[in-house]
Amino acid sequence: MHVACVMDGNGRWASARGLPRTEGHAAGEKALLDVVNGALAIGVKWLTMYAFSTENWRRPPDEVRYLMGFNESLLMRRRDELNEKGVRIRFAGRRDWRVPRRVLRRMDESIELTKSNTTMTLTMAFNYGGRAEIVDAVRSLVAEGVGPDKIDERSIRRHLYYPEMPDPDLVIRTSGEQRVSNFLLWEIAYSEFVFPETLWPDMRRDHLYEAVLEFQSRNRRYGTVK
Ligand code: IPE
Ligand code: IPE
Ligand code: MG
Repeated sequence: MHVACVMDGNGRWASARGLPRTEGHAAGEKALLDVVNGALAIGVKWLTMYAFSTENWRRPPDEVRYLMGFNESLLMRRRDELNEKGVRIRFAGRRDWRVPRRVLRRMDESIELTKSNTTMTLTMAFNYGGRAEIVDAVRSLVAEGVGPDKIDERSIRRHLYYPEMPDPDLVIRTSGEQRVSNFLLWEIAYSEFVFPETLWPDMRRDHLYEAVLEFQSRNRRYGTVK
């Protein structure tokens, strides 16, 4: 099973406590680890977390800087325990000039450290945009000289960031917002969505289990009739 999460509501969690927004991001670390551990406990093989979108660069420079440093230090703090639990860490997104080199280095180290793990694949969507991913796929198709008659759903899929990753079965977006915000556009064509009101820093494995139960009660038809 592939579960994908839009970790939303950090800023509101902090504001409700009279704290700066960055404290909400910091509090989200505990939620992230608890959800990862919960996913491991119920045998989720693929977990994808939206950590920073291609649109999040529009936030105030201080918050962007904080998020870059926070994601870097989170990797430093957590990668050994994730590695011991058999988690393979990967990143989906653009490695453009705006991502500090130090952060890219930590990402590469974490990928290298965990690359042989098979219990679960944790993909961090970082500087990720669904439209950017589709653009990148089409660009690489064209660069390979693939002609118009060879461009189809299969060839586009083969040029996505992780072609072998199964599509998400379930997408969870916390904080009550009911939108996609440019997450995994190609891959969510037939995903089921759950929108808990919980703000991300309050998210725990029990919320994940609830969402999975809700998912199991859904009837997926893929355009056919029963
Ligand atoms: C999600 O929380 C974290 C990121 C987008 C990095 P927000 O920062 O979007 O929190 P709200 O939506 O403003 O409450
Ligand atoms: C989506 O949340 C991106 C991440 C959770 C990383 P946003 O908070 O950025 O989305 P919008 O702006 O409310 O649509
Ligand atoms: Mg938000």
